[in-house]
Amino acid sequence: MSKLLLIDDEEDIRYSIQRIFDSPDIELATAASGEEGLKAIPKFKPDLVLMDVRMTGMTGLETLRRIRQSDPKLLVILMTAYGTTQTAIEAMKLGAYDYLLKPFDIPKLKEIIANAFKAARDMKQVVSYEPLLESEDYDLGIVGRSEPMQRVFKLIGQVAASDATALVTGESGTGKELVARAIYHHSDRVAQPFLAVNCAAIPEQLLESELFGHERGSFTGATAQRIGKFEQCNHGTIFLDEIGDMTPPTQTKILRVLQSGTFERVGGNEPLHVDVRVIAATNKPLEAAVAARQFREDLFYRLNVVRIQIPPLRDRRDDIPLLVNYFLKKLAHEQQRPPKSVAASVVKMLEKYHWPGNVRELENAIRRAHVMAKSDAILLADLPPEITGASGSTFVPAPGSAGDGGTQDITALARQLFQWAKRDPKLKIIPAVERELVIQALKETNDNQVHAAKLLGITRATLRKRIEKFGIQRELNVK
Ligand SMILES: Nc1ncnc2c1ncn2[C@@H]1O[C@H](COP(=O)(O)OP(=O)(O)OP(=O)(O)O)[C@@H](O)[C@H]1O
Ligand SMILES: [Mg+2]
Repeated sequence: MSKLLLIDDEEDIRYSIQRIFDSPDIELATAASGEEGLKAIPKFKPDLVLMDVRMTGMTGLETLRRIRQSDPKLLVILMTAYGTTQTAIEAMKLGAYDYLLKPFDIPKLKEIIANAFKAARDMKQVVSYEPLLESEDYDLGIVGRSEPMQRVFKLIGQVAASDATALVTGESGTGKELVARAIYHHSDRVAQPFLAVNCAAIPEQLLESELFGHERGSFTGATAQRIGKFEQCNHGTIFLDEIGDMTPPTQTKILRVLQSGTFERVGGNEPLHVDVRVIAATNKPLEAAVAARQFREDLFYRLNVVRIQIPPLRDRRDDIPLLVNYFLKKLAHEQQRPPKSVAASVVKMLEKYHWPGNVRELENAIRRAHVMAKSDAILLADLPPEITGASGSTFVPAPGSAGDGGTQDITALARQLFQWAKRDPKLKIIPAVERELVIQALKETNDNQVHAAKLLGITRATLRKRIEKFGIQRELNVK
């Protein structure tokens, strides 16, 4: 259950928001003024505050300032009327999580609130990394007892105790995000915010502005000034996920922030200073990207000071029974039912499989088997065919088909893209994404159009048309 505190002096608004969030998953409390809101916070302990900027008595901005002082991790979303973007910018500088323009678009309101609840959980749910044994608290932790995971735990402890930049690497689904959050939870900055930015999910031309903000008019579509994540997260921790997907100009800016704590907003020339701890993660081999000159060598060394490499699941098979047990208990807890058991043959089969999608794939497989199982025991027949090999053919994992991982990831990506597109009404989402895909395919294949077209699943002629249409000028290596 997530707790939302609404602070607004207008009764109508309180009433309509109460109706919008009338759900068993959300507990809502209301306050009719800033003063009342400040009093309610220590009692109600909300995960999120939704507050009007313009109120009689204490203003929204003043209330925000006080909340930030007493409770820097509490997320606050402000509601402003059109024409008060300046206030919205002030609010972001003060560390508001986001703002909404009135009158609201209800789906958008719901989406922003859902995102904020997720961010609040990331900050709040402590990820423990002590080898999780028979602990009762089976909810939140990194499970693993294997040698390689013990080394990971040791490193988490060491890096959490310092303020150093950490680089977490490993295949998809190995638990990089979990490790990043564990570092945060055990660091000195735990009382300050944690914000995650997925660099791969944000179109290239927008990432820099997401991170560093922009000045009004700095590019088409920049209709107002914007405060970036680094500014918003001062004194806190930023998690830069999929850092291997950053363009060279953004890499340069990141390097500068890491070295001197300074940056400028896009299109601005006032140097801003922040104190932010960076944790980065990627599933791409950064060394190879450095060799191919796609990733700055100096940034790589700057990030690589503390490196936590999470081994793929197939290299720590002795963790599999533990993880299976953990996911079953987690499911039982979610569904408020006693956990199902697993046949020994099932565990053996799971231990043998090569898990291209790692722990995420294992979790999905257990979830699916749990649904399939007709009794309270999971049997071999309940496992997906790619694991049991029941499909008959020798199994060759197609990239992106790891369990549900592939399509789920694409759905998640599309969702994120849409969030972006909504904020920037001028962005044409399909052409923007298409253009990026073409550029990436050409990069991947060293401008080999035949291979690039194949990667993209289009014909060479179509690829050429796209290159022309999007004005992508690269050294075309016609083969
Ligand atoms: N050691 C572990 N113990 C318990 N759960 C784990 C562990 N490793 C991963 N998970 C779970 O598996 C899922 C994937 O983990 P996470 O998102 O951290 O992976 P990732 O390495 O960031 O993947 P990607 O590269 O695809 O972003 C999550 O639901 C996470 O909770
Ligand atoms: Mg991840």
